[in-house]
This record gives sequence, structure tokens and C-alpha cells, in this order.
Amino acid sequence: DHAPLIDPFARPISYLRVSVTDRCDFRCTYCMAEHMQFLPKKELLTLEELDRLCSTFIGLGVKKLRITGGEPLVRRDIMTFFATISRHLETGALDELTLTTNGSQLAKFAPDLAALGIKRINVSLDTLDADKFAAITRWGRLDQVKAGLEAAKRAGLRVKINTVALKGFNEDELFDLVDWCAAEGFDLTFIEVMPMGEMGEEMRLDQYWPLSDLRARLAERFTLEELSESTGGPARYVRLAQTQQKIGFITPLTHNFCENCNRVRVTCTGELFMCLGQEDNADLRAPLRASGDDAALIEAIRGAISRKPKGHDFDYSRQTVAGQMTRHMSHTGG
Ligand code: GTP
Ligand code: 5AD
Ligand code: SF4
Repeated sequence: DHAPLIDPFARPISYLRVSVTDRCDFRCTYCMAEHMQFLPKKELLTLEELDRLCSTFIGLGVKKLRITGGEPLVRRDIMTFFATISRHLETGALDELTLTTNGSQLAKFAPDLAALGIKRINVSLDTLDADKFAAITRWGRLDQVKAGLEAAKRAGLRVKINTVALKGFNEDELFDLVDWCAAEGFDLTFIEVMPMGEMGEEMRLDQYWPLSDLRARLAERFTLEELSESTGGPARYVRLAQTQQKIGFITPLTHNFCENCNRVRVTCTGELFMCLGQEDNADLRAPLRASGDDAALIEAIRGAISRKPKGHDFDYSRQTVAGQMTRHMSHTGG
């Protein structure tokens, strides 16, 4: 049974995002609470289970696999998982293996990741000011992330910086971020902050900086050339004519991109979420653990895909956070 995964809205599911840990060495305020209760180890899928799960999805037509967390590189022995799962790159079953990371461990891991066939990574970075960085991550060190980025560059990894646009926090750094990425040779994508976690509604609304606004400010200094290419993710890209840099926009709130959604997410405990902005999920850990045969697992996956919703419920339009979800972003890995 290897028919590709197609959801009820005729969207082929070719992109799987897998969170390998709920832990992180940072606590970004829009992502986690300061004091998080992390899961006991027995709840987590083992590295072998993660491999079997990802391989099953690849057998069902997944072409792009992104490893997330929490912070994926703080999971013990995670390189063992990368080393085995990368076999699907060699066979051509998988087009892209990549990860989204906070960069803190890259100095250690970038060469190994590159050697395994990873070409591009996404690194979250919201500010270039060391004090602001420590504040938003609650204790992270900017110089550590910068050292990680240098290591990634040396290893030949292409880097995309992900910046959450936060009103009153990094508005004043828009051009600094753009110039710095140009100098470093990094792509840059801005993300609208989504209403997740138990952070107060008012505070999140306060922080909400629509990207239409940010884009208009960019257009004051640069000529923006619309790009039609996609990396298979939700970002829409422009090129700045003056510097030739690529800038992406991820706008779940102001421009809903759900109609082209091609992805699903698995948490580190094996819950399959059909949408980042919906609570419905399916347990894949039970069928994984019940039998060494993949039939029940495939059935659970197909059953879940057959109820993938049309889109998320996030909505800031009525000046309230209608879609506020208590689930933390770190649970599903963004
Ligand atoms: P590439 O296009 O391959 O660079 O990846 P990507 O943009 O899909 O992945 P990345 O991990 O960089 O995603 C950045 C952020 O965009 C995520 O952490 C989420 O915050 C947001 N995002 C990604 N996919 C979705 C989605 O399906 N729905 C919503 N609402 N947000 C998403
Ligand atoms: N809204 C938007 N993006 C978020 N991320 C984490 N929490 C949120 C949120 N509430 C992003 C991080 C990182 C990715 C893993 O998810 O900045 O780029
Ligand atoms: Fe950690 Fe990334 Fe969440 Fe920040 S956004 S706390 S770095 S998982």
C-alpha cells in the first residue's frame, strides 16, 4: 500500500515536519513558558521509532523532511538518527533533509550535518542585539549562535534566518537584519507571530506586527521583485533588486496560505497534527509500538490525512485572538 497521501481538499502531502524533542536550551517568550514541564523519556519516540516513522512517510511519498523541536540538536545522539535517515537522500526517495534550529549547537554539529547531505538549514534569530537576544530567549547567548552560523557557513550549509516580526521589539532592526544577512550571504524570512501558548492575549496582540507593514517599509528603501519560486514551504519570496538578496514572508494571519498546504507534523511523542493551527491529532505511537508490521501505522496515517482540515483558525482581525491555542509552539515545532 504505497499510494501517495492526498487529503480531502486534493492537496498532496509531500512535506513532513518531525519534532524530535520538546526540550530547548532557550525559552523564547512567544514559544515557551519560562518554567516548562518537559516530558519523561519513555514518552518520546526512540531514535529507531523516529526512523521507522519517517521512513514510512517517505514510502508514502514524502519528499521533504524537516527535523524540528524544541531544539532538535539538544536531543541525545540525534546525529545517529540523521546518519540513518539520510540513506533516503542517497536512494533518491527523499529530495531534501533539513532542520530548523536555534543555532546554539551548530558549532559542534554543522560539519557532520553537511557531510550527511544536508544542504540548507533554517536558523531562528530575532535580533542582532545581544541584550535583546538574551531577553527574548530568556538567557540565550547571541555570540554562541553567531559562532554556530559561522561554522555552518564554513561547512558549506546554506542558511535561512527566520525572524519573528515583533512590534516594539525588532521593528527598529529591520534594515540591520537585512544588511547583516546580505553581508553574511544568508536568506531571511520574516514570520508573523502566531497566538499560541498561554501568553496573555493582550500581550500577543501588542506584539503583532503585520508583515504587510514590514514589506511596505522595505519597499521604501529597496525595489522588491516578486519571485514565483517556492521551497515547498509557506513562505512567499521577493528579491531586493539592489542587493539581489532573497527575503521571505510567512503570513499565516494576513495572507492565509493554507490552500496550498502540503505538510503535516509529528510531535516527539508521535502525535500527528494535520494543521499547526488546529488541535485535532492522531496517535501514531500506539500503532508503532503495537507491532513491527507497518500496516496499522499506515492505516492510522491515512485515516488522519483523510480528516486534514482546510486551514487554521488564527484570527487577529477583530482585535481579539480568536484562535488562541494553549498548545505551545515548541510542542509541534513551528
Ligand atoms: P522552507 O520553506 O523549506 O525554508 O521551510 P519552512 O518555511 O516550511 O520551515 P520553517 O521551519 O523555517 O518554518 C518557519 C515557520 O513558519 C514555522 O516555524 C512556523 O512558525 C511557520 N510555518 C511553517 N509552516 C506553517 C504552516 O503550515 N502553517 C502556519 N500557520 N505556519 C507555518
Ligand atoms: N509565532 C510565530 N513563530 C513562532 N515560532 C515559535 N513560536 C512562534 C509563534 N508563536 C518560530 C520560531 C522558529 C520556529 C521554530 O518557530 O521563531 O523560527
Ligand atoms: Fe527554543 Fe526555538 Fe522555541 Fe526559541 S523558538 S524556545 S529556540 S524551540
